[in-house]
Amino acid sequence: MTVFGVDAVQSAGTGELVVGAKDIVTPLARELARERGVTIVVATARPATAPVAPATSNGATSPASPLVTPVFTPPSSNGSSTPPAPLKPPAPALYRRGAPLHPSVAPAALHQPRLRRPEVTGTGKSVKRVVVVGAGHVGMITAMKLAEANIIEEVVLVDIAEGLAAGIALDLTHSTSLLGFDTKVRGVTSLAEAGSADYVVITAGRARQPGMSRTDLVEVNAAIVGGIARDAAAISPQTVLLVVTNPLDEMTHHAWRASGLPAERVIGMAGVLDSSRFQALTGLATDSSPSTVSALALGSHGDEMVIPLSQARVGGTTITHALPPAKVTALVDRARNSGAEIVGLLKSGSAFFAPGASAARMVLAMATNSDEIIAATVRAHGQYGIADGYVGLPARLGRTGLREIVELPLAADELTAVRTAATRIAERVADLERIPAPS
Ligand code: LAC
Repeated sequence: MTVFGVDAVQSAGTGELVVGAKDIVTPLARELARERGVTIVVATARPATAPVAPATSNGATSPASPLVTPVFTPPSSNGSSTPPAPLKPPAPALYRRGAPLHPSVAPAALHQPRLRRPEVTGTGKSVKRVVVVGAGHVGMITAMKLAEANIIEEVVLVDIAEGLAAGIALDLTHSTSLLGFDTKVRGVTSLAEAGSADYVVITAGRARQPGMSRTDLVEVNAAIVGGIARDAAAISPQTVLLVVTNPLDEMTHHAWRASGLPAERVIGMAGVLDSSRFQALTGLATDSSPSTVSALALGSHGDEMVIPLSQARVGGTTITHALPPAKVTALVDRARNSGAEIVGLLKSGSAFFAPGASAARMVLAMATNSDEIIAATVRAHGQYGIADGYVGLPARLGRTGLREIVELPLAADELTAVRTAATRIAERVADLERIPAPS
């Protein structure tokens, strides 16, 4: 299997790009092909070409339409070839990950052992409304976990695909008596219909596909995230934005810039997810409960993810005492690459249980004014020697977003790695700055 990216389309000039039936053509490549009139042809199938179809007027695609794989109908196993199905190009719509949830999805309540008991308002809830934008699998799991926590009056799921958010909201509502929560859950097609929110979780955007880097997604998702951030801040000037869309670090910066909100109220989710992955993998490797593993994933959500081992513990001891160095390195690497590992396994779509649970966890940490130190993508102002830039750091969150960046005594090489991550993110952000803010 070969992954064809934008380079391949560029090399095709204005002609044809020939791919195999099992090859992957990235969404950005197909978008470029559409713009340039390049026809994508499947070599193993009858070479009837299928030009890239235009997006519908509102940019929406059918929720069931896979964006990348399979692009074409593969040849049948008896050797006869089937004409390729029409290309389904990525459209400028909110991307909803395609794989159906397995019926055994455990609807257990969110475990929040370290969260404080929330302060309760007159309505019996701690927070009035949380809006989750993007009803893909990550958005759906986020909404589910938030609703089950039962401290929010209303969780509103927003997606431009008519009926999708409403359907998921109704389905979730049907589970209230089973699970013993009474959070109202509503699904709508616009932020305006959702109404003002204490927190807005942005999960909308294209998903990474096999072979794509997170950074491949930057321009497409910047347009989506920028527009949502701007509108969310206009509707709810006091809101806190939690960004989940990839590439996470750049999108968090972009949401901050587009929204005009103070940096303390624009935060990115990734460190919680990467930390949780490392804890789970270390728990498996040591045959111990992940709850006995403590670690913080800092830096970027990607190649520059850093787990300061000086701070990581298994049971009562530092991880470097509990495990041989090579084993620890392998665990860090696997945690860093877990997103890609899952993309590779799923073939279509990306991880959603842990990302959704992580986003919900961060909202609940804010809603409950939790004292815990968690890894979050926040804007440093000199902490760790990092001047004015978003990067994953240890933080305390509160009702109104970032309360405090916590300066832990990192080892010299860990500090260098975190600073390097901040530098790399700043470089990518500088590229992103060239994209005009949404009008
Ligand atoms: C992942 C995506 C959510 O790491 O970034 O799975």
